Amino acid sequence: MRQSFQTELKQLSEKNLYRKLRVLEHHEGTRARFEGRELLLFCSNDYLGLSRYPRVVHAARKALETYGVGAGAARLISGTSEAHRKLEEKIARFKRKEAAVVFATGFLANLGILTAFAGTGDVIIMDKLCHASLVDGARLSGAALRVFPHKNYKQCEALLKKSKTARRKILVTESVFSMDGDLADLGELIRLKEKYGALLVVDDAHGTGVVGESGRGATEPEGIAEGVDVIMGTLSKAVGGLGGFVAADKVLIDTLVNFARPFIFATALPPMLCEAAREAFCVIEEEPSLREKLWENIRTVEKGLKAAGFSPASAASAILPVILGDEKKALDAFEALLSGGIFIPAVRYPTVPKGKARLRITVSAAHTAEDIKKLIETFNRFKKTGL
Ligand SMILES: Cc1ncc(COP(=O)(O)O)c(C=O)c1O
Repeated sequence: MRQSFQTELKQLSEKNLYRKLRVLEHHEGTRARFEGRELLLFCSNDYLGLSRYPRVVHAARKALETYGVGAGAARLISGTSEAHRKLEEKIARFKRKEAAVVFATGFLANLGILTAFAGTGDVIIMDKLCHASLVDGARLSGAALRVFPHKNYKQCEALLKKSKTARRKILVTESVFSMDGDLADLGELIRLKEKYGALLVVDDAHGTGVVGESGRGATEPEGIAEGVDVIMGTLSKAVGGLGGFVAADKVLIDTLVNFARPFIFATALPPMLCEAAREAFCVIEEEPSLREKLWENIRTVEKGLKAAGFSPASAASAILPVILGDEKKALDAFEALLSGGIFIPAVRYPTVPKGKARLRITVSAAHTAEDIKKLIETFNRFKKTGL
């Protein structure tokens, strides 16, 4: 038995797909020590640096005194506190929807959405590059899963046309694609969902706090929040903590509370994290300078990488992948950058398709101009040595 697991792991290793945990010491957000080396991190999703932001930390500390460490039970037992109610009201206002509900993680929120809204006899139509939690939610739901090529909305329409007899049609996309950093065309998806009577679910995990005039996410532009039926997001990226959320009409939120098993059967998000997240949303609204700094950093990194001869996709978010293709090449590049004091993990299959391994650079408002200079200098140096 043990042997079969060892064989599987060995096979992974041979394909350069083996993963191991790396313990970072003295972690300070954008800096850490690893194996005795001081490193600059360009890999976190803490895009605004809110995980350590004084206002957010203070809110968490205060809540810790009031509520303790954990919620003690699932939401429908005794796990719902004032902190949950206030956070959900805040999120609903922030996302301009009638109501919201929080889950213990974003992964669970996606499992909850798709298993509660779809079942046997329904069809889920999804962009090929959607996150594993959406794919797993679709599989678990029992609905038929149909996938269209990345952002190919003609194919998406063809699938909607073919699904006329389905009881429900659920159209699913990410707003900012987590491994490519590009944006979905939400206007076109709204047009399609209206034409074919589908329910549109948008995962705004990497958009919230980063894109939109005031950081409300990809659904901020006029008419988009109204057109998207279900806005999902996480509290674990730009919001800086942990947890998932869904904002939608009251009837849909009530459906999740009653049918989403990851909501019903999992212990509630700790109130301390709810309070931290609520403060983080206030910071996003009240301190636009953080987002401005983030975008200044994103543009500097994009420009620097291009000048160094790399071709990241045009910056539409805080995610700037440098696609290297071969898994071994990506691992070698990771090691080379590490020896230069920069930590950017090699993202490989199954996170991205086979042969599309990449360095996934993520930028934060917490990076200084010096940090970015060092990143670009390191890329320049390694380009010369054949990265
Ligand atoms: C697009 C997307 N959706 C959902 C999730 C899951 O969110 P969480 O990390 O909060 O569980 C992630 C995180 O990796 C993600 O990138």
